Amino acid sequence: MNEIPLILFGLGGVGRSFVRQILDLRDYHADKYDLHLRFLAFCDSRGAVLEPTEGFSDQQVHELLQLKEQGGSLSQHLLGGIQDDLAAIVDIAGQPGTIVVDCTATEATVPALFLALDRNYQVVLANKKPLTMQQEVYDRLTRAGTTAGDPITLSQSRWETTVGAGLPVIATLNRLVASGDEIVRIAGAFSGTLGYVMTGLQEGRAFSEIVQDAYRQGYTEPDPRDDLGGVDVARKALILARGMGWRLDLSDVSVQSLYPEALAERTVD
Ligand SMILES: NC(=O)c1ccc[n+]([C@@H]2O[C@H](COP(=O)([O-])OP(=O)(O)OC[C@H]3O[C@@H](n4cnc5c(N)ncnc54)[C@H](OP(=O)(O)O)[C@@H]3O)[C@@H](O)[C@H]2O)c1
Repeated sequence: MNEIPLILFGLGGVGRSFVRQILDLRDYHADKYDLHLRFLAFCDSRGAVLEPTEGFSDQQVHELLQLKEQGGSLSQHLLGGIQDDLAAIVDIAGQPGTIVVDCTATEATVPALFLALDRNYQVVLANKKPLTMQQEVYDRLTRAGTTAGDPITLSQSRWETTVGAGLPVIATLNRLVASGDEIVRIAGAFSGTLGYVMTGLQEGRAFSEIVQDAYRQGYTEPDPRDDLGGVDVARKALILARGMGWRLDLSDVSVQSLYPEALAERTVD
């Protein structure tokens, strides 16, 4: 059986769904690919749990999911501790062939992602923030492991779920670019959340009610202002533009906010 070790940052809505899918597809992975994905470490904003030798049993993983679903922190777990340095977790738990998966919504993962790439591990991001920082950060995250001038080499990183909700948008873009096609324009509805809000408005519902509803159902970003202010869409546009080879920064993408400036200083609650 091929064992692939995983380290996961973030056990929010997306991280937990990712873990659940892996548990649900154990038989499929084994039958089809002779594959077992083994969790070595989980991290949330305050804590981490590590099992760097054997990896966690599925029973333990279920318990961790339950803890997070109930709003707990990994630091409270029997095997857990406080973490404020994700790179240290990669250092301790990582082993050859590890994939580090970033399901957080923070730039704070970047040093740990760099360390993982330096160690020749692979990196998968649902988190858009590291890819929308300075161009150099994007370049380093997306080109690690490629050979200069070789359009076929795949990098050590994947970031498919950052745009298009997991539809093969980035893979298609990369393939078009690699084959020499010139992309002149990308058009689309870049935010399911804004689509949801607009449909609600068309139905005559109150803006505040629709936003709360979308937040409760997990359709919005952790901070709904990232959706309503257009920042999340801007990040997606920037990731696609950079994928086309355009060297831009987030400040180059113009967006119009759907909430008044006065709300910018308030907390999410
Ligand atoms: N929702 C979607 O449909 C969707 C689609 C594509 C991509 N994404 C992206 O996926 C990411 C996760 O979204 P989500 O809805 O799951 O967010 P979420 O529910 O807020 O979860 C974020 C997770 O990251 C953890 N975290 C925050 N800071 C951390 C740090 N410094 N170190 C380690 N862990 C940290 C949080 O810890 P605590 O549990 O302690 O708070 C939480 O477990 C976001 O970047 C989002 O843009 C989401």
